[in-house]
Amino acid sequence: MSNVIVLGSQWGDEGKGKIVDLISDRFDVVARYQGGHNAGHTIIIGPKKFVLKLIPSGILHPGKQVVIGNGLVIDPVALFSEIESLESAGINVAAQLRISDRAHVLFPAHQLMEKRIHIGTTSRGIGPCYEDKAGRRGIRIADLLDLESFPALYAELMEEKITVAKAFGIEGPTSPETVRSQYQALAERLRPMVCDTAEFLNATIKQGRSVLFEGAQGTMLDLDHGTYPYVTSSSATAGGACTGTGVAPTRINGIIGIAKAYLTRVGGGPFPTEALNAQGEAIRERGNEFGSVTGRPRRCGWFDIPLLRYTAMINGFDSMVLTKLDVLDEVDQIPVCTGYRGFEGMPSTVRDLERAEPVYECLPGWRTSTEGISRYEDLPSKAQEYVTYLERKTGVEIGCVSTGPERNQTIIRPNSRFSDLTR
Ligand code: GDP
Ligand code: IMO
Ligand code: MG
Repeated sequence: MSNVIVLGSQWGDEGKGKIVDLISDRFDVVARYQGGHNAGHTIIIGPKKFVLKLIPSGILHPGKQVVIGNGLVIDPVALFSEIESLESAGINVAAQLRISDRAHVLFPAHQLMEKRIHIGTTSRGIGPCYEDKAGRRGIRIADLLDLESFPALYAELMEEKITVAKAFGIEGPTSPETVRSQYQALAERLRPMVCDTAEFLNATIKQGRSVLFEGAQGTMLDLDHGTYPYVTSSSATAGGACTGTGVAPTRINGIIGIAKAYLTRVGGGPFPTEALNAQGEAIRERGNEFGSVTGRPRRCGWFDIPLLRYTAMINGFDSMVLTKLDVLDEVDQIPVCTGYRGFEGMPSTVRDLERAEPVYECLPGWRTSTEGISRYEDLPSKAQEYVTYLERKTGVEIGCVSTGPERNQTIIRPNSRFSDLTR
């Protein structure tokens, strides 16, 4: 049995939720390793639509064990709102979910602190919560459950927030006492689900059972390897799966990158292949490219080979899943960026990336519907050529192609690394 990491290879929203849901039945446990409720993973099952933010996308399989790892930041109010909506759909979340005692707790004051950050974040308090983690003043789930110590830890953290709020002219955290008692009440509901998830995951692996690690965001939003400072505050890359769960790299058998057949980005920051024209708008409409968390229109553009080669290197992809191929069905000539004029590799500063001028090659479109196709040989030949072109240029196999949001709108290529890893 394989332990596999599935993560975003671009700027997020590549369709990770759909793919993790699709392959979850082949794994014993599904574990999220970073981020918070900035993520929005949409899963469509027949007439039902689920948008998961903190809970791993395996939860929709009855009885599947899922884990929120130590690498996440958890807003308990957001978590319980998600739990309640899943429970109202008949899912027994309490029986399936384990939460790390070492994950960090996100408070309303974190959201307030985000007023100082102007890069187009999701305004959920994610960055400030990770700042507290790195600043070694954060409060973890285990601290929240510690009835004796929590009030003093919380008071100390709020004192710091009030000082910062005053200094920056932000309206101070409102009623910290109300928040404290609300969080303490929620802590009691969390308690039965909390454990040392690193112990649980390592024991699972030791018993010969398999774990699927689910990333949030995407490699280009990774704090170290993304388009800094226009990034999120956690490690979305493959390395983050180990630090974010406490499972060693030696236990990982494969890494799968999810890539959209074109490119999108939400929020600020450089985007060399952005299509600021009618074609970009057409993709936004056809691909329904509006943020699942904030509803913001996603910026749309063309597949970027240098970006993908870079993220394949950082993550060591064994295979890629190409999603939303059907969204390109009506494009006559599909531009693909093959390089940045004047740059080798990925520029390290956003100034350089903004200056990077993409060089395009145009591939002929197929101008016919691929929606729902589930066998590779049924794809129009020009769509197959698009897939093999991207494979050749990125140097990574495309083991799976997605042709619609539903589980059955998927092609799994036999004899691929993807099919081996998800067998
Ligand atoms: P994630 O954050 O990576 O899980 O991706 P999101 O859920 O934020 O965004 C992907 C969107 O595309 C969702 O609304 C999915 O239902 C949808 N989707 C996923 N795969 C496909 C596909 O192959 N074709 C189409 N048309 N939609 C897809
Ligand atoms: P999923 O998991 C797309 C973006 C925000 C902003 C930047 C920093 O659904 O792919 P943050 O609130 O994290 O501090 O914002 O990162 N961002 C995402 N973009 N998909 C996501 O998650 C994102 N999570 C954060 O728009 O540009
Ligand atoms: Mg998303």
